[in-house]
This record gives sequence, structure tokens and C-alpha cells, in this order.
Amino acid sequence: MQVTVRTLQQYKEEGRKFSALTAYDATFAHQVSAAGIDVILVGDSLGMVLQGHDSTVPVTVEHMAYHTAAVARGNQGSLIMADLPFMGAATMERALDAAHALMAAGANMIKVEGGAWLADTVMQYKRNGISVCVHMGLTPQFVNAFGGFRVQGRAEDDAQRLISEAQTLVAAGADVILLECVPRATTQRIIAAVSVPVIGIGAGPECDGQVLVMHDALGFTPTRVPRFVHNFMANSNGDIATALKAYDSAVKDGTFPADEHCF
Ligand code: KIV
Repeated sequence: MQVTVRTLQQYKEEGRKFSALTAYDATFAHQVSAAGIDVILVGDSLGMVLQGHDSTVPVTVEHMAYHTAAVARGNQGSLIMADLPFMGAATMERALDAAHALMAAGANMIKVEGGAWLADTVMQYKRNGISVCVHMGLTPQFVNAFGGFRVQGRAEDDAQRLISEAQTLVAAGADVILLECVPRATTQRIIAAVSVPVIGIGAGPECDGQVLVMHDALGFTPTRVPRFVHNFMANSNGDIATALKAYDSAVKDGTFPADEHCF
């Protein structure tokens, strides 16, 4: 079965959780989709886990298109979401050109980091037949502006801002909202305020879907592991296919994320 934007909306309406995981090449895309994971995110986290940078800032549209094309060749029916890299939405022309390159490479949906200022970009994407996920909360491309990788939406004014910006983006046409490192209480209010599926990473079990960086989920991350990560290889006898299935099942049966993964 091919997972589409409609499938994710339908899962939300039926109260069924869905899973998402990053992949950056054909072999792992095949493994991830064969495990039943609904969404493959070709994340610009590839700048950190593949290229060894300390942020996603150096990643280019060309890198993203190269990895999206590789993932598309290995994919077996998962929805492919590709990241617009740093400064990708700085002008409308850049945003459209970059999305064109990623869609031509095989993406089914574009993910863009930011807030309400992206409303025009979201509208233009929708006019051009592009499904959009807006990544809010801790948006790693803004690490220099944030002064580090920090939880967002803790203070009441910050929580209110996230809720109203999510509503603006959904009104503009966003198909999915992704929340990273947002306290559970704020996530619950955002979910109540929007009609589209909400994917979380460090944003609590109430989200409709969950996403992790594959290297984190498989315990391959050599440096400090974020609080929201669980190593699914730990009980999988070193077998990647078993670990990927364990992640998919844990998301779908609601056992991941647990309290210790939340803020
Ligand atoms: O690039 C990425 O992998 C991401 C996830 C952290 C959600 O954006």
C-alpha cells in the first residue's frame, strides 16, 4: 500500500497512531518501509549523522535532492517527506526552486522549518500541488538564533505563540505539523487547536505520529543522546529489521514515547 497525505489524515480521524523515521539512502529506505513505517523523512539531520557537522546549517538543496532520489529508489510504499534545507524558504523563488528539485527527486511532501512567516510559502506550495509539513518548536536550522538546542513552548506566551502560528499555517494549507522538543501540555493544546495530523519528536505521546532520527533509534549516535530517544536495537539482538519493527509497533501501540521521553 502507498501511504499518502490522505492516509495520514485518515489515521488521525480513526485515532490510529503512525510512525515516521529518517532514512537517507536506498538500502535503509527499503528496510524502513519493509518494517511498515509509514513515513520516511529524508531529514537535513543528514548533515549531522552522515556528514559529521555539528548542525544542519551546511546542508544544501543538492545534498537533499541526491539523498531523496536514493531513498525513492529503495522505498516500498512509505510516504517520502523531504526537508527544505537551511535558508530554503528565504525567498519565494528559492522556496519554489528547492521544492521543485526535491519533488522531482521523488519526495511526496516537503517539510519546512519555521512559523507563521511561512504562510505565503505554504500557500504557494499548495497552489503548485505540493503537500507541506511545517516543523515548529525546536527547529534545528535556527540553532544559532536559539543559542542551542532548547525546548520551546514552555512559557505561556511562547506556548500561545506556537498555538496561534500552527493555526495560521493550517489555515494557509499546511497538511501536517511537526513539533520538536515541545512540552507535552503545549503539544496537547496545539493538537486541540488544529485539524491536521501532528507528528512529534520529544513532544509527547498525544501526537498522531512520532518521528526519530534513524541513527538515534538504532543506537548509532556516538555523542550525547537526546532525552526523547529510545534505542530500539538494545533488545533486538543486533538485528536492524527487528529494531525497526519494534519502533513501528511501539509507536502504533502507544508505548513509545513513554514519560521519560517527554518534557
Ligand atoms: O532532519 C531531521 O531529521 C528532522 C527530525 C529531527 C524531525 O527534522
